[in-house]
Amino acid sequence: MAGARPKSRSASEPGEPSDAFIFFGATGDLAYKQIFPALADLIRDEGFDLPIIGVARSGDLDSLKERARRSLAEHGFTDAAATQALTDRLRYVKGSDEDIETFRALRRELGEARHPLHYLAVPPALFGEVVGCLQVSGCAAGARIIVEKPFGRDLASAVALNETIHEVFAEPDVFRIDHYLGKEPVQNLVYFRFANSFLEPLWNRDHVASVQINMPEAMDVADRGAFYDQAGAIRDVVQNHLLQVVSLLAMEPPSGHTPEAIRNEKYKVLDSIRPLVPDDLVRGQYRGYRDTKGVAADSSVETFVALRLHIDSWRWAGVPFYIRTGKCLPVTATEVLVEMKRPPQSLFGEAQQRDADYFRFRLSPDMSISLGALAKKPGEAMAGEPVELLASHESGSERPPYQRLIGDASRGDQSLFAGEDLVEAAWRVVNGVLDDKTPLNVYELGTWGPPEAAGVLDRGDRWHDPVATPRMAASK
Ligand code: BG6
Repeated sequence: MAGARPKSRSASEPGEPSDAFIFFGATGDLAYKQIFPALADLIRDEGFDLPIIGVARSGDLDSLKERARRSLAEHGFTDAAATQALTDRLRYVKGSDEDIETFRALRRELGEARHPLHYLAVPPALFGEVVGCLQVSGCAAGARIIVEKPFGRDLASAVALNETIHEVFAEPDVFRIDHYLGKEPVQNLVYFRFANSFLEPLWNRDHVASVQINMPEAMDVADRGAFYDQAGAIRDVVQNHLLQVVSLLAMEPPSGHTPEAIRNEKYKVLDSIRPLVPDDLVRGQYRGYRDTKGVAADSSVETFVALRLHIDSWRWAGVPFYIRTGKCLPVTATEVLVEMKRPPQSLFGEAQQRDADYFRFRLSPDMSISLGALAKKPGEAMAGEPVELLASHESGSERPPYQRLIGDASRGDQSLFAGEDLVEAAWRVVNGVLDDKTPLNVYELGTWGPPEAAGVLDRGDRWHDPVATPRMAASK
């Protein structure tokens, strides 16, 4: 298909529902962990009634149904009627993702469907091949496509992948999943910022001292060694999830509530982040990572990164945005901490407490917003102590991200997906520090990463370690 003109017009009308759901990689990990549970939730809660077709190299329809049942049981899904509906509706096409005959069989299986939604739960290296076969077999006509992160390996490969996809699918029909965008607490960042008036006057370089996003994970890479060793922390979570969070925290008020208005503002943030250089970050690898199945014995892939971003915008110039994430750290949690500047004078003769004023947004595993401040300690002296006002939300009612995102894609709603411009802008930020451009420091399991991570902070700043909540401790 080389030389074909990129498609710019959508094959379906906006909002026109898809009429079949196809997932490639049906016997894989992603299907097992996320897609089956999401489909079952959609059937139970939203009357999702599309035919569901799995495509995979091995097995047959019965083994796929069995796998679906096992996946749901393992995820604690107990609705028997929805489980039955999902397995009844399941169909199966056996074959390789690179063989055109698989796709011809798929077209026959699609029957009357004219607006299929194809989910590529396959390694990104196969995207180009699958998209080409979808077109040649007629399966791409009127269709939408969902692709998983990581979208490309660097800026050049992401641009090339976008070009390949656009030869067949127009941008409004391409849904690049970043499941962080489907998370309720992440959406709440935008809501909380713009649904209240008290924050906006403070939300800038005049009042904010620094912003940090911590995403420690206690688990190791487990059985994902082969995938992880091709990625590393920067490609796995920084280029996508964490830069998306930065863009939501730092964006200007959008001109309206349309998806485009919000995405334009997010793009402007990513575009104004100075591309990272080696001095901006510290990489680490936990001890023992190289013994993991699928990992190279001399791997220099990072399982930890701490970095500092510079946002060259009118609002944020000079305010450090720090990111720290890694595997085998003491807890699993994601938190944003926005530290406010101290008052210009210390009226009460106390030493200035650097990080007493802050907003903390806890994004996972529980959702809360807290406001840290100093309040007077009872007694004669005008002396203070740190206090925290906390608003927390009992999780339970929110839709899991994959349910939300697959449902949205089937309706053609792009609001919570990453457009090509955003994905490429995020790659531009990290492109100069991928792979071995910076030294790798070994760190011990259960620590906060290599001590060198303190080196990315400005003088006087410190990392704020998220703490385990009682619920987290109880669920261990
Ligand atoms: C995935 C990464 O995208 O996000 C994983 O590949 C990471 O390495 C995961 O653990 C974190 O997402 P969540 O929703 O579990 O916090």
